[in-house]
Amino acid sequence: MNDSAAKKKFQALNAPKGVQEYFPPNSHEFLAIREAFTRAAHQAGYEHIELPIFEDTNLFARGVGESTDVVSKEMYTFADRGGRSVTLRPEGTAGVIRSVIEHNLDRGQLPVKLVYAGPFFRYERPQAGRYRQLQQVGVEAVGVDDPYLDAEVIALADRCYRTVGLTGQRLELTSLGDGSDRPAYRAKLQEFLHTLPLDEETARRADLNPLRVLDDKRPEMQDMLADAPLMLDHLSDSSHEHFETVTGMLDDLGVEYVINPRMVRGLDYYTKTCFEFVHDGLGAQSGIGGGGRYDGLMAQLGGQDLSGIGFGLGVDRTLLALQAEGKSASDARRVDVYGVALGSEAKSRMARLVNELRAAGISVDMSYGDRGLKGAMKGADRAGAKFALVMGESELEAGNVALKDLAAHEQRNIALDAVVAELSNTLQ
Ligand code: HAM
Repeated sequence: MNDSAAKKKFQALNAPKGVQEYFPPNSHEFLAIREAFTRAAHQAGYEHIELPIFEDTNLFARGVGESTDVVSKEMYTFADRGGRSVTLRPEGTAGVIRSVIEHNLDRGQLPVKLVYAGPFFRYERPQAGRYRQLQQVGVEAVGVDDPYLDAEVIALADRCYRTVGLTGQRLELTSLGDGSDRPAYRAKLQEFLHTLPLDEETARRADLNPLRVLDDKRPEMQDMLADAPLMLDHLSDSSHEHFETVTGMLDDLGVEYVINPRMVRGLDYYTKTCFEFVHDGLGAQSGIGGGGRYDGLMAQLGGQDLSGIGFGLGVDRTLLALQAEGKSASDARRVDVYGVALGSEAKSRMARLVNELRAAGISVDMSYGDRGLKGAMKGADRAGAKFALVMGESELEAGNVALKDLAAHEQRNIALDAVVAELSNTLQ
């Protein structure tokens, strides 16, 4: 092996570009957010669903829409060793509906209420808050077209952010109409767009997916689009009534929102109610979560013609938003109790005590290696422990242990066989 080949072989490796990793102490925050979101969903009657990380590529082409950026530009698609085209899931809704259909979950009590959490993959240009492996907690309520359910889902998303202490989010809301009013609106919008001097690519988009043109962020486009007809002004009576019920219920629930009739979601399945939570502390990637109703998706994936509504909350971006607000979602405490044993005999006795404490449901760690008292106490500090248990030769001989209250700086000796009961009581 020549020099440079040897160097290469032993070079440290990096995680793939655009992939966010969470290690301590940030991983505490990450978990606290994800768990708070899923807990709030469980509390509202949503049950856990664990889905494949990769699916048949057709699922996303059919479910999410071939003209979306997500499908046309951002998918991690590859042939497996059997020659099948599979794709790392870019989002969760299509997979949930596929599973509901495949396992007949929609043949029982409706709505089917499901919650999921995990990584999703989009080959986007990485930047702050925009990752190629992104983390979401999502819910789907499938099988019932009821505006009160829309309000429940939105209020649940709102509660999720509140439970982690976030305050600077803004809920934006609109209606995208349904199968009865959307085609006429689409034609009207196209008619308007054809009067504009559009560049070639935008003109193509206007033919293929005119709603997406409204999302063009270029200032000159935004000027030209100022008078574009808006879906919200062209809703059918039933879509209008649906939307009015949703907003009325949100008012009753005290969930604040602003109507944004120009909202364009990046996925094609949406109908009627659509929403996004934005946070201004994040720069360009301000969307911390979003969702909406999808009337046609289930039928499009080969199931019954049932509607559904759900959301996906970005865990990565919620973490960044909390940091921007100078807040923390987690108690960074690693363990409540930390054992410090000096000498091998004490270490063996401490290891047994630690085991008993864990069996009693107490979080506890202990020092390893041959650190002196000072070094070991630093470990207790770093673990964020409330109590340290210190055992040297003299304690061992006397059959007790020194219990140090690290916040109060107090210390007393207690009998070894009383430790579990004593700490169980104090830490309750
Ligand atoms: P989405 O708006 O594409 O919706 O994604 C939901 C959230 O995921 C976004 O608001 C954002 O916080 C986060 N997110 C998306 N892309 C990235 C990225 N590249 N980096 C970091 N975070 C990102 C959906 O995925 C739908 N499945 C939500 C849904 C469920 N609609 C109905 N049911």
